[in-house]
Amino acid sequence: MGFDRFNRDIHYLRISLTDMCNLRCLYCMPEDMPFRTPDTLLQDDEIHRLVRIFARLGFNKFRLTGGEPTLRSGIVNLVQRMADTPGVKVLALTTNGLTLNRLAHPLKEAGIQRINISIDTLDPEKYRRLTGRDALDTVWAGIRAAEAAGLEIKLNTVVIRGYNDREDAVDLARLTQEHDWQIRYIEVMPMGHVVDFQKQHMVTESELRSTISAGLGPMDILHEGRLDGEARVYRLRGARGTLGFISAVSQPFCSGCNRARLTADGRLLMCLLRDHELNLMPLLRNGATDGDLADRIEKAVWLKPWGHGLSEDIHPRRNMSEVGG
Ligand code: 5AD
Ligand code: SF4
Repeated sequence: MGFDRFNRDIHYLRISLTDMCNLRCLYCMPEDMPFRTPDTLLQDDEIHRLVRIFARLGFNKFRLTGGEPTLRSGIVNLVQRMADTPGVKVLALTTNGLTLNRLAHPLKEAGIQRINISIDTLDPEKYRRLTGRDALDTVWAGIRAAEAAGLEIKLNTVVIRGYNDREDAVDLARLTQEHDWQIRYIEVMPMGHVVDFQKQHMVTESELRSTISAGLGPMDILHEGRLDGEARVYRLRGARGTLGFISAVSQPFCSGCNRARLTADGRLLMCLLRDHELNLMPLLRNGATDGDLADRIEKAVWLKPWGHGLSEDIHPRRNMSEVGG
């Protein structure tokens, strides 16, 4: 159960809870981004029903994303319902951290185990330029709250040439000397309106590792180079935490991909970077049975595309906040 036609074991679903966000990261969404109206989004009961069906099909890991998932009201209750669903083993959240001061503790209590917080720089002025909001202190308060709540923490940084690919990348890596966190360096991907931006500003993993080592000394590869999820993991000598490199563009990991994505408006995407989709919304709202839904989902899983096609210059129409990072 849960295998696709390329023999990949698909058991990880990323669910976007909303396309809305309180930031405007320059590689993600434009200032004037239009958001969907609430009635066009999956309701809590619909998400819960789908999670039950996916779990029966062998999915055991679920991550909530956005936009900014914590902007959705009722998220704590939804997490609780997901955590109580048989078959759900791992529950994770990706967030920009702005609401964590208030929500880290209740989310942990409800069942979130792991949290990925986006932070692209430790410099307040650069943070404002990259995200459109002067909010670095708030993110830090959120990170501390997540730590105090006992959540497993990863920090995500999208690396942009000319913005945060040098001192900022080194400063973030330095955090692992003191903290048991993983800093994840993500290659910027060509989605939605950022195709040209991506071409001009992507930094490859090998260049970035040289920059970090020039500042902080050698790093050793962990797990014999096997990917941990989508990241190749290193540790600076003597550090407590680790460095993860997510290099979807320069070193695609499609052959080991185990995931699917559900957009906030109910479309199932089997690849982040392809536009093929199964729209579950009309099925959900026109009386499909659990069995009908399970059949359609199983077929979509089987037909998961082999890979992202970036080398053929194929790019998705939607940006990350619509697809769910
Ligand atoms: N390329 C790579 N990562 C992106 N994200 C948003 N847009 C892009 C892009 N074009 C990331 C965010 C966050 C997650 C939700 O998706 O930084 O870590
Ligand atoms: Fe919001 Fe995340 Fe997109 Fe930034 S990357 S605008 S925090 S959804």
